[in-house]
Amino acid sequence: MSSDRDAQVICVTGAGTGIGRAISHALARSGARVAVADLDPTAAETVAAEIEAAGRQATAFEIDVTDRASVARCLSEVVGRHGRIDAWCNNAGVSTMAPFLDLTDEDWEHNMGVNARGTFVCSQAAVRQMLAQPRPPGDGPRGRIVNIASMAGKRGNAPFLAHYVASKFAVVGLTQAMAGELASARITVNAVCPGYVRTGMQAREVQWEARLRGVDAERVVDDYVRDTPLGRLQTPEDVAGVVAFLCSPAADFLTGEAINVNGGAFMD
Ligand SMILES: NC(=O)c1ccc[n+]([C@@H]2O[C@H](COP(=O)([O-])OP(=O)(O)OC[C@H]3O[C@@H](n4cnc5c(N)ncnc54)[C@H](O)[C@@H]3O)[C@@H](O)[C@H]2O)c1
Repeated sequence: MSSDRDAQVICVTGAGTGIGRAISHALARSGARVAVADLDPTAAETVAAEIEAAGRQATAFEIDVTDRASVARCLSEVVGRHGRIDAWCNNAGVSTMAPFLDLTDEDWEHNMGVNARGTFVCSQAAVRQMLAQPRPPGDGPRGRIVNIASMAGKRGNAPFLAHYVASKFAVVGLTQAMAGELASARITVNAVCPGYVRTGMQAREVQWEARLRGVDAERVVDDYVRDTPLGRLQTPEDVAGVVAFLCSPAADFLTGEAINVNGGAFMD
């Protein structure tokens, strides 16, 4: 068993609920010291307390991924507490829904701002910190970035989500570009592309989509399941296990990938 000082320090954004919460639990179970970071500090505190109650290590931090000053403050608090950062998971994300011709600048800025720009801003800050730290011994990565993109980052045909699709394609592109540029520094950059995951975001989308399509909410959920060959909605834990793998030594030589975790809904 590794000592406490050897435990990886990993920050997860948007960790106060949904997929980020499950990722935080999975990373903590794998032995990491998890920085649970969210726009909602109370939600972050709750998740950190759950993890501590399970005998693992987590601390809550407040972050707004769209605000450079907030990101810098969070990073410096994490490093102040744990001494370094080994991996950063850009999970914070938002969605809204509207037909393309009804999309507003506000919809565009909000989705692009949190999903794409937030990933950019946090990754820059985290990678600068990783590069300033002493090189770890061995051939393993010096740091890892894991981006939570989406099936909508590869499959553009997602009604009412053109702005969200654009933001998630941006995340997949950024993942590849960063992976190429940062490989010589031994920093790996990968993405995970979930499908239909049962979270608060999905619950909101089901209501919006039902209204926009003029069907009931059950029909929308049935359609999600019908679109998923493995035959059920995803759980946040389905995504979390793959993030834990990407932060483990088993993924040391993996970079620039955008891994589908969607029950077969989209294969590419
Ligand atoms: N639920 C799905 O079906 C699904 C599918 C594919 C991809 N995703 C992606 O997975 C990620 C998590 O989604 P979820 O379903 O758990 O969402 P969610 O809405 O349930 O939770 C998102 C969390 O992000 C936080 N957040 C929002 N804006 C933030 C900001 N500016 N700074 C910091 N934190 C912020 C929220 O407070 C919340 O705790 C998102 O990037 C989302 O796009 C979700």
